[in-house]
Amino acid sequence: MTANHQQPEVNIGLVGHVDHGKTTLVQALSGEWTDQHSEEMKRGISIRLGYADATFRRRPDVDAPDCYTVANEVDGVETEHVRTVSFVDAPGHETLMATMLSGASIMDGAVLVVGANEEVPQAQTEEHLMALDIIGIENVVIAQNKIDLVDSEQARENYEQIQEFVEGTVAEDAPVVPISAEQEINIDVLIDAIEETIPTPDRDPDADPRLLVARSFDINRPGTTFDTLTGGVIGGSLTQGTLDVDTDIEIRPGREDDGDYDPVATTVRSLQAGGSTVDSATPGGLIGVGTGLDPSLTKGDGLAGQVAGPADSLPPVHDSFTMDVELLDRVVSADDDEIEPISTNEPLMLTVGTATTVGSVTSARDDEAEVTLQRPVCAESGAKIAISRRVGARWRLIGVGTLE
Ligand code: GTP
Repeated sequence: MTANHQQPEVNIGLVGHVDHGKTTLVQALSGEWTDQHSEEMKRGISIRLGYADATFRRRPDVDAPDCYTVANEVDGVETEHVRTVSFVDAPGHETLMATMLSGASIMDGAVLVVGANEEVPQAQTEEHLMALDIIGIENVVIAQNKIDLVDSEQARENYEQIQEFVEGTVAEDAPVVPISAEQEINIDVLIDAIEETIPTPDRDPDADPRLLVARSFDINRPGTTFDTLTGGVIGGSLTQGTLDVDTDIEIRPGREDDGDYDPVATTVRSLQAGGSTVDSATPGGLIGVGTGLDPSLTKGDGLAGQVAGPADSLPPVHDSFTMDVELLDRVVSADDDEIEPISTNEPLMLTVGTATTVGSVTSARDDEAEVTLQRPVCAESGAKIAISRRVGARWRLIGVGTLE
């Protein structure tokens, strides 16, 4: 591995309203490295959950924040590696909220991008911040983007709106950094704020590896003959441990057979992380895991939302569960509608880890609900569950559950 091919060690969500500049910011931060994933990874992972690695570097002769850069060399002086991070780019479009919520399950921190040229908050600015709040992503940096489009008075007004908007939320004390992603202004200060605010979580390197599967796919081109067929690929993020090639793993809940699910056992045949093929992968970033599975099983996200790891280490699979429920005060960005209590028989969309499933409520009390799931989930007691309810034509986030 060259210095440029370090594996990312932390996942940072990029959230915010459509068109406020998330993708442009990822480009400004990830320099030339974004496109170095193989075609399969790009096709497989980036499309639904946008994803790019960035390597933060520093100029040895300069103090913070001016020292930070993503360039390998500035004014003829080579820069030093600080940290490789992975950006998970949550789609800003409202219909993709379920994708944002399952992406949030693998975020260690987040950058909330807010356009300086629009009133605060816009719909998904509010909904995404609420999701961070609910899932408990506490390390947040706010990028006040498109600063090149406003004058200083508008910028200050917008800053005050941001401050008012985040009051009482998880982002209350978040630094607000004015930037222009397009003109690459103040990117060094933003990197400094990320370094200060979003540390790499402490992780136990000896824990059993656990992969939250976000995508799965068949990388064989049509017409591939049987003897050259490559096994199914799963993509996701390790939440703990180290995953090595040749490790035997199980994927749960697994394969459906007449309404029942059976765990699927396989072996890790190859690993792709940080843009390279590796023998061993650690938490941080999205990794691609080549397996010995029949690709028809992994095709078209067939195993997305499942959990993989050594068989005896995985959490239990639930067809139904009881959850403690905490409802929001009102439906986010939907004309301030109050949230009615959960009622028996109503369908809810539940996001647990990377899994999204619909559950039917079999019993509901004030702060507790029992649900029967359309598709089972593999999750530990204490897992956070984002609860959405159908309001009008779409699912709206209404609260958070904790698996009992
Ligand atoms: P979605 O992925 O659709 O949610 O949008 P996004 O938040 O990723 O926005 P994107 O980066 O695609 O930017 C939207 C538009 O704003 C593009 O036309 C960008 O060129 C423009 N833009 C982004 N950042 C800046 C900026 O700092 N200044 C100016 N003037 N334009 C910007």
